[in-house]
Amino acid sequence: MLQAINLTKKFGELVAVDDLSFTVEKGQIFGIAGPNGAGKSTVYNLITGFFPFEGKLLFNGEDISGKKPHRIAQMGIARTFQVPHTFPSLTVEQALSVGSRFGDNTGFDPEYVDHLLDFLDFQEERYNLTGNLDLIGKKKLMIGAALATRPKLLMLDEPMAGSNAHEIQDLMEFIRRINDEMGVTIIIIEHFMKVLTELTETLLIIESGSKIASGDPDIVTSNKHVVECYLGDAYASDN
Ligand SMILES: Nc1ncnc2c1ncn2[C@@H]1O[C@H](COP(=O)(O)OP(=O)(O)OP(=O)(O)O)[C@@H](O)[C@H]1O
Ligand SMILES: [Mg+2]
Repeated sequence: MLQAINLTKKFGELVAVDDLSFTVEKGQIFGIAGPNGAGKSTVYNLITGFFPFEGKLLFNGEDISGKKPHRIAQMGIARTFQVPHTFPSLTVEQALSVGSRFGDNTGFDPEYVDHLLDFLDFQEERYNLTGNLDLIGKKKLMIGAALATRPKLLMLDEPMAGSNAHEIQDLMEFIRRINDEMGVTIIIIEHFMKVLTELTETLLIIESGSKIASGDPDIVTSNKHVVECYLGDAYASDN
């Protein structure tokens, strides 16, 4: 579904993404991990058209390199951000409706918004202001607003950050349902080992913008070098 070919992104002297290639298959949950500053979020910024870069990005075979962010969104790629952004003065329903106006060109569809409210288990919060949601509620809403654009590919940036063990379990279940029930292909950037091994089918580890390892998450995360050097902190805090 998504092919990244020799992606390179420089910010002045700094090479944030360095000749990185990977392929995400349709229907899978694909994980990206690596230390702080490895270039993970920058990869999302390249895929969503926020920065020019060297290399090539193919989405369902079509070259999306250099396309504008709104075009890429219309083609079916949506993302969330590391820090939840919601519009505090909108109601939950309005926030989802905003998402539904962008995206794949089918426009605002109240029935789909209603379906999303069910899917998110947000019918009771429908008329509440998003600013009053708790952290996990805000996270689900941000994912919901991305889903409102009807993406084929959803990219999540550290969705578990700041969550406790119970919330992590909830969010994992929620992400699995998006994949299974909505048929959305997912890329997830995450630090938690448990999430990476339980949720993802393919895992890419990057450091300093380069690929360190990729493949089956159980194999990748049992690679001693990867564990010690790149997942050490997350592994320690997680077990
Ligand atoms: N817009 C920008 N301008 C200049 N430098 C940037 C910009 N965005 C990111 N960088 C730099 O690029 C490198 C990669 O940053 P990035 O945010 O992609 O890392 P990350 O893997 O997402 O890290 P984290 O786990 O902390 O979120 C960092 O050194 C960062 O400071
Ligand atoms: Mg990041």
